[in-house]
Amino acid sequence: MTIKTNITEMFGIKYPIASAPMGPYRTTELAIAVTEAGGLGTLSHSERSMDCEEVDSIVAMKKNLDYVVEHTDGIFGFNIRTSRLELDCDKLISETSKHIMGNPKLREQCLYALTSAGSAARMPKNKDFQKLREKTQIKHFHVAPALWLADKCVAAGCDGLVVTGFEGGGHQAYEKVQGLVLLQQVQQKHPDIPKIACGGFATGAGMAAALALGAGGIAMGSRFIASKDSEFHSNYKNVVPPAKASDTIVTTGTFGTIRLWKNKVSLYWASRVVKSKEEKIAQEKVYQEHQASLTKEEIAEELRRKKDADLAAYRGDMENGGVLLGQSIGVINQISSASDIIETILNDAEKALKKAITFVE
Ligand SMILES: Cc1cc2nc3c(=O)[nH]c(=O)nc-3n(C[C@H](O)[C@H](O)[C@H](O)COP(=O)(O)O)c2cc1C
Repeated sequence: MTIKTNITEMFGIKYPIASAPMGPYRTTELAIAVTEAGGLGTLSHSERSMDCEEVDSIVAMKKNLDYVVEHTDGIFGFNIRTSRLELDCDKLISETSKHIMGNPKLREQCLYALTSAGSAARMPKNKDFQKLREKTQIKHFHVAPALWLADKCVAAGCDGLVVTGFEGGGHQAYEKVQGLVLLQQVQQKHPDIPKIACGGFATGAGMAAALALGAGGIAMGSRFIASKDSEFHSNYKNVVPPAKASDTIVTTGTFGTIRLWKNKVSLYWASRVVKSKEEKIAQEKVYQEHQASLTKEEIAEELRRKKDADLAAYRGDMENGGVLLGQSIGVINQISSASDIIETILNDAEKALKKAITFVE
């Protein structure tokens, strides 16, 4: 049994399931497991390398790319966040592109370059990435969490979109449009560009729905956190199976809208923003103005605060950590291996699609 789509064809992979990037965490072992299982493993934009020491993101990316290619012959990719607050972003794009170019095995296998959280044009404008794109089959996708952002991706010449609905874990768009509507909007306006649906997916029924809505595959974050292969702390994984879909909360900070598991930290962050007058004004405008008005000290303070919360979660402190998770936690019932997750989703998606076709006369 197999499900063939424009995404499996584009990358030459067996199954149209990707692991979503989850920086600042390291998702290297997870990427290998997903790729080995026939999906599309994705390395995160992280400052942690395989030996887990904290290094800069360029060193981490190179080490993680080398590690993956040593451990699998399958196809995989990587994420770079292009927000203007990611100070090393252009250098990271250049260095990553040159590193892939310099290794024939990476040139063959690292075919999925996913940017997010900032400009879709930053990677295609980069000279080193342009050279890589000319010489290899690498495809550039960008995360589109709103229709106007999908428009920008198409204008920037992206090869595909990761259409991410508001139910997803981590940073989300201010528009707060759920994946069901967002996928329809993007499909109506840009029917031909390949799409990976993301945010809220964890089951075969979800995948069947995504394919029916025009996507060629799905990407999952929370579902793969709760896998035996992910590098997340066991305390983080153990939050997922008992959690309900209503156990996440959305808050707004320097880095934009973010969905987290409800705990002391996220409830405190949310309480700080709910009463703010910014809530009453058009939110995108506020975000732009807010970012532009920040002093260097304020940015440094926010970065420090975020890093503390990331580190606490990384170490398994579920009370003081920023525990990024999506509403899909409400449909995840056990911690399984990445290959079991992929197999179950494929089988269930096939059943759901076959059942749906019986309605057609
Ligand atoms: C712990 C965590 C970290 C994340 N970090 C990133 C990131 O660095 N870059 C990015 O594009 N998306 C990031 N995301 C968003 C995911 O790529 C994806 O959109 C989200 O997990 C989808 O929702 P789901 O968790 O319901 O599958 C993160 C999500 C989580 C849960």
